[in-house]
Amino acid sequence: MTAPLRVAVTGAAGNIGYSLLFRLAAGDCYGKNQPIILQLVEIPPAMGTLEGVAMELDDCAFPLLHGIEMADNPGGGFRDANQVFLVGSKPRGPGMERNDLIKENGPIFVGQGKALDGAASDVFIVTVGNPCNTNGWIAMQNASKVPNARFTAMTRLDQNRAMAQLAKKAGVQTTDIENMIVWGNHSSTQFPDFTHATIGGKPAADVLDRDWLEGEFFATVQKRGAAIIKARGSSSAASAASAAVDHMHDAWFGTDGRAVSMCVPSDGSYGVPNDMIFSFPCVCTGQGNYEIVSDVAFGDFGNGKIATTRDELAGEAGLVADLV
Ligand code: NAD
Ligand code: LMR
Repeated sequence: MTAPLRVAVTGAAGNIGYSLLFRLAAGDCYGKNQPIILQLVEIPPAMGTLEGVAMELDDCAFPLLHGIEMADNPGGGFRDANQVFLVGSKPRGPGMERNDLIKENGPIFVGQGKALDGAASDVFIVTVGNPCNTNGWIAMQNASKVPNARFTAMTRLDQNRAMAQLAKKAGVQTTDIENMIVWGNHSSTQFPDFTHATIGGKPAADVLDRDWLEGEFFATVQKRGAAIIKARGSSSAASAASAAVDHMHDAWFGTDGRAVSMCVPSDGSYGVPNDMIFSFPCVCTGQGNYEIVSDVAFGDFGNGKIATTRDELAGEAGLVADLV
């Protein structure tokens, strides 16, 4: 039998955790032949709730779940972990932007970054807690042993949202949508690049009205998180967990040459400063390895959108300079 993967999840007693853990334990992320040990990380006041979540995981009798460990600190929680989901942090409320959370959530990622030095040598990390690009960058800057390339953050939810909107409008299935990449920051400045997306093999802009793509489509994808908070009273959870599964699944298994949206440390492509955690099209080659697609051609429209979201991220980095 394959040796179990150690999978750490912070914020494991929270809303995303409640959806994510059961998907992981069911084999949706690492496959139906890969056992896992869950390392659940919370803050001390949430350990009672976490016990209840662990009881429910036990009660599912998942064949692939070979152990559950719980920790109230990242040092214990990340020890020897191969895969890490950094979810634990405060969600925004109505009327807030995600980067309004930066002063409260940013400091969490200082200690977690340092603690990741105690993880396994192949550790691969996705940051979900908002603002996820900058939080992931804080963790990366505070880790001294983990290579930068192992730190990623999540725009897969934005990609999935964009694919769903295109499919609905065109009256096709999401499987007919290809190369729908979201660039930049997981924020309302993100760039959902319909200009290179295809629908049934044809350019999206040939199938759908350009005014709709630049107007309603853009705004819907950029502001979807806020719309869910308004409608549901709390931020997206099951869809966020599902996107985290997609992100880590693709990084683990590879994407067969297909590009997916992942926030990764920049290699300087597209004028994005080195090491800024920015969402690019990435081709995953398995076991957490990936390459940034570096030859996408843009005109003024795309270049302007990339510059806007890049400048926002640079501004966020300035706000947390004391944490790195
Ligand atoms: P939640 O409030 O339901 O749960 C958060 C959990 O994190 C709580 O159980 C809390 O105790 C725990 N926590 C707080 N500080 C912690 C720490 N230092 N260590 C470990 N655990 C800690 O929130 P949620 O709905 O699960 O959302 C979590 C985060 O994910 C939020 O920041 C939210 O904005 C973000 N989010 C990101 C995306 C994305 O696409 N990147 C999507 C949805 C939500
Ligand atoms: C989302 O995109 O749903 C999350 O980032 C939560 C939020 O604050 O919008």
